Amino acid sequence: MDNKSLPIGVFDSGMGGLTVMRALRTRLPGENLLYLGDTARLPYGTKSADTVTRYALSAAHALTARGIKMLVVACNTVSGQALPALTEALAPLPVIGVIVPGAEAAIAAAHGAPIAVIATEGTVKSGAYVRAIHALAPDLPVVQQAAPLLVPLAEEGLVAGEIARLAAARYLTPLLATVPHPRILVLGCTHFPVLKDTIAQVAGPDVSLVDSAETTARAVEAKLDVLGLCNDGANGRSHFLATDAPDRFSRVGEIFLGAPIDPGNVEVVDL
Ligand code: DGL
Repeated sequence: MDNKSLPIGVFDSGMGGLTVMRALRTRLPGENLLYLGDTARLPYGTKSADTVTRYALSAAHALTARGIKMLVVACNTVSGQALPALTEALAPLPVIGVIVPGAEAAIAAAHGAPIAVIATEGTVKSGAYVRAIHALAPDLPVVQQAAPLLVPLAEEGLVAGEIARLAAARYLTPLLATVPHPRILVLGCTHFPVLKDTIAQVAGPDVSLVDSAETTARAVEAKLDVLGLCNDGANGRSHFLATDAPDRFSRVGEIFLGAPIDPGNVEVVDL
């Protein structure tokens, strides 16, 4: 297999990263994609940075052992807490996280207006979005809020209706009431894109949502292009690895991937 036809490794704590997989599949139809969801150790968003880094390194090594040409860290929590450790451990393999692409898209859309971020507790604590935004736009006000309840709601498929609206309002109402009023809301968690309609409804028409899944897919495309590693065509294959519960992976995963996942295409691996 030449380098171009090697798969892109996509890693997440579980099924949520399939929102990034979906964006990659749409933008890069010729690429082979190898997804690893660490369903045995999910969730990462409530764990310490040391534990997340340890888990992420073992998962990344499982992917590199199979041969990948790039690692996409679909998980915001891992991107916020373990990206430097992963980049160092896997060098010279290119490693792309979701936070910098998300921050760049937010700045581009903000036109100087304040930015709000919702994410897991771990991502908020890491301050990674605030750092990434301030590295490029030091004066831009950034506010952030952990929104942990939205994660299980997304996994239960409760993405619309009263419960989802109430949960979104619980987090967004105080966040968006800050002064000056944020005009951009970054969906800083793999699970939130499936709640986009509800979040947009609660946030109101003067707040634009930034989805890091789509912006990450664009960053991956640009990086492959620079490195001369694009696999052109339209017949890229997808294969899935999970560390536990492959049936739940394919059932719940559909919500995030937006397409059926053949249980026969989900392999259980031990890290
Ligand atoms: N994948 C995680 C993230 O994007 C959310 C789920 C978890 O807490 O593991 O931060």
